[in-house]
Amino acid sequence: MSEPDTSPKVQTTIETGDEEPRDAPLNTKETIIETRDLDVYYGEEQALDDVSMEIYEHDVTALIGPSGCGKSTFLRCINRMNDLIDSCRVEGDVEFGGKNVYDDDVDPVALRRKIGIVFQKPNPFPKSVRENVGYGLKIQGYEGDVDERVEESLKSAALWDEVKDQLDSSGLDLSGGQQQRLCIARAIAPDPEVILMDEPTSALDPVAASKIEDLIDDLAEQYTVIIVTHNMQQAARISDRTAVFLTGGDLVEYDETQKIFENPEHQRVEDYITGKFG
Ligand SMILES: Nc1ncnc2c1ncn2[C@@H]1O[C@H](COP(=O)(O)OP(=O)(O)OP(=O)(O)O)[C@@H](O)[C@H]1O
Ligand SMILES: [Mg+2]
Repeated sequence: MSEPDTSPKVQTTIETGDEEPRDAPLNTKETIIETRDLDVYYGEEQALDDVSMEIYEHDVTALIGPSGCGKSTFLRCINRMNDLIDSCRVEGDVEFGGKNVYDDDVDPVALRRKIGIVFQKPNPFPKSVRENVGYGLKIQGYEGDVDERVEESLKSAALWDEVKDQLDSSGLDLSGGQQQRLCIARAIAPDPEVILMDEPTSALDPVAASKIEDLIDDLAEQYTVIIVTHNMQQAARISDRTAVFLTGGDLVEYDETQKIFENPEHQRVEDYITGKFG
């Protein structure tokens, strides 16, 4: 991270929620993910520059910053989705539970069950609601009761009541907001530890988006959530910590969300969150 600047601060306009942090004091939480000197390149182009950060268990961590600053790239490094991009090269460490996820003996498919991901555009499979949620269980050769796990996952995704009578209908027949909760249920089913979300509400109407926000708050009781968002108010409302990336793939500031939005160290961060650029 670059050095803090000392220029005078103006009051920022974004308010964080009144509620007390969920598990105060925050600094007693365990580290679940740690990146060290993480550099990512696509061919010759560098997308992340020397990113070192620790993510804490049961936090909601928001990643914010202007388009192209490397937020999605960072998210995809954590569960090795970047492996699927030929030109992508990763240097440095990404540890999950103390183990480097890029070690040769890590199976990326098993890793992605532990670290699920939900994308901007809901992407259910053209299969029934039940099969969508049970998909990962089937691949992993789950030995428990699949229907029970499907029900639990749909309940955790706050979708069960809306779909319990149409489990055999196509997931594609649900509304956009329901489809996104279906994708969350699909990510939850294999019992992950971390859920990555890349702008999960930006394709949804405000009511559907607000349901997902409420859900994220509940999910953090059981999981660790890392969410990319362009919506500053959303980051302020739902996250415990916020990481601000700026152009060049630079992690400029990372702190408790309230600090980032009310009294950031860096003028560039303040300019970004008050809408002066980006
Ligand atoms: N598959 C890819 N191939 C080549 N370059 C890529 C690829 N994905 C991302 N990049 C480049 O890496 C940089 C970071 O992109 P990334 O998608 O991580 O940014 P972002 O912060 O998520 O942006 P946005 O807010 O627009 O989603 C950009 O310069 C982008 O052009
Ligand atoms: Mg992105």
